[in-house]
Amino acid sequence: MKTTVRHSRGAYEVELTDLASVLGQLGGQDFVVTDENVRDAIRLASDHLAVQPGEGSKDVQTLGRVWEWLAGRADRSGRLVALGGGVVGDLAGFAAATYMRGIDLVMVPTSLLAMVDSSVGGKVGIDLPQGKNLAGAFWPPVRVLIPIDALRTLPARHFANGSAEVWKNGAALDERLFESLLAQPLQADAKNIAEIVFQCIELKKAVVEEDEFETTGRRAVLNFGHTVGHAIEQAMNYEGILHGEAVAIGMVVESRLAENIGVASPGVADTIQKGLQSQGLPTRIPGGLAAASLIEAMRRDKKARRNGLAFAFVSQIGTSKLIEGVPENDVLKVLENQ
Ligand SMILES: NC(=O)c1ccc[n+]([C@@H]2O[C@H](COP(=O)([O-])OP(=O)(O)OC[C@H]3O[C@@H](n4cnc5c(N)ncnc54)[C@H](O)[C@@H]3O)[C@@H](O)[C@H]2O)c1
Ligand SMILES: [Zn+2]
Repeated sequence: MKTTVRHSRGAYEVELTDLASVLGQLGGQDFVVTDENVRDAIRLASDHLAVQPGEGSKDVQTLGRVWEWLAGRADRSGRLVALGGGVVGDLAGFAAATYMRGIDLVMVPTSLLAMVDSSVGGKVGIDLPQGKNLAGAFWPPVRVLIPIDALRTLPARHFANGSAEVWKNGAALDERLFESLLAQPLQADAKNIAEIVFQCIELKKAVVEEDEFETTGRRAVLNFGHTVGHAIEQAMNYEGILHGEAVAIGMVVESRLAENIGVASPGVADTIQKGLQSQGLPTRIPGGLAAASLIEAMRRDKKARRNGLAFAFVSQIGTSKLIEGVPENDVLKVLENQ
C-alpha cells in the first residue's frame, strides 16, 4: 500500500512495508538515527546512532549529539533515516532540517503513534525546559517507509497509546473506521492492522495537505481530545501518563462537555468511552488532579483563545466541529463531575 502526500515544496511517498525490506534498502549515504530499545528490538546491525529511549532525548543536548555525529560522516547529499517512535522522528527530523541547512529525511516509524500520526505532516522539533515542542520546523520527509511488522515488538502500553490516535481519527473523521474498532479493538498482529494504519495515513494526509503550516484551522480537527489531553499531561508534568492515554481521557471529557452544551448528540460520549475502554485505555481523569489546575493549563495552551476555550468537538461519530469561546464554567462543571 502506497500513497503520496503533497506539500508546498514537492511530494513524498508513504509506503507500508516490512523491516527486512527497509533495512535492505539502506545504502552508504543513509545515516540511521534510532533509540536503544528499537535498536535492540530489531537487532540493528548496520552503522547507526542510538539515543536513549524516551521524551528526555528530545532536548538540545541530544540534538547536538546528532548534529556532531552527522558532521563526522554526512555531506549535503546524505539522507538521515529516523528509525523509531515519535521521539526519534521529531529529534532526528529536526537534525535533518538544520544540519547543513537541511538534508533529506526518511521517516521509518516503528511505534503505532509514529506510524499513524507523527511520521506524516512534516512537523519536527525538540522540547525546551520551558515547554514541549518549543523549537522546531516544518521539514517534510522525502519518504516514509512503514515497517508494519515492527509493531510486534512494541510494548503493549505503547501500542494502546498509539491506538488512541486511531480511535480519535475514527471518532472525529471516519464513522466506518470507528465502527470497525468498536467491533474489534486494534491488535498488533491482526490481519487488518496494515489497512487501518493506511486509512489513518490517508486521513492525516487529507488534512495536512489542506493546512500544511497549521494556518487555516483545518489541522485543528485532529485535535479532538487534545485540549483536555494536553492539560492533563501538563498538570501531571508529563509523568506517569502517555500522550495517547491523556487524549483518551480528553476525548471522553470533551464529548461530555459537547453534549452538555448541545454540540454533540446524546450518547456520543458513552459510545466513545465504551470503545476506548475495550482497547484498555483510561477514560477518567486521574485522582488528585484539581479541575482548576486543568483549566489553568488549558488557558496556557497555544490553542486557547481570548474569550473562553477552544475545542475540536465530535458532534456525531465521524464528524467534528471546531468551537471557540466555550465558557470556562461549562468546562469546570464537566471536569468536576468526572
Ligand atoms: N511531529 C508530529 O507531528 C508529532 C505528532 C504526534 C506526536 N509527536 C511526538 O511523538 C512523541 C511520542 O512518540 P511515541 O509515542 O512513538 O514515543 P517514543 O518514540 O518514545 O516510543 C515509545 C517507546 O516505544 C519504544 N519503541 C518504539 N518502537 C518500538 C518497536 N518497534 N519495538 C520496541 N520498542 C519500540 C521506544 O523506544 C519508546 O520506549 C512525542 O515526543 C510527541 O511530541 C509528534
Ligand atoms: Zn495526539
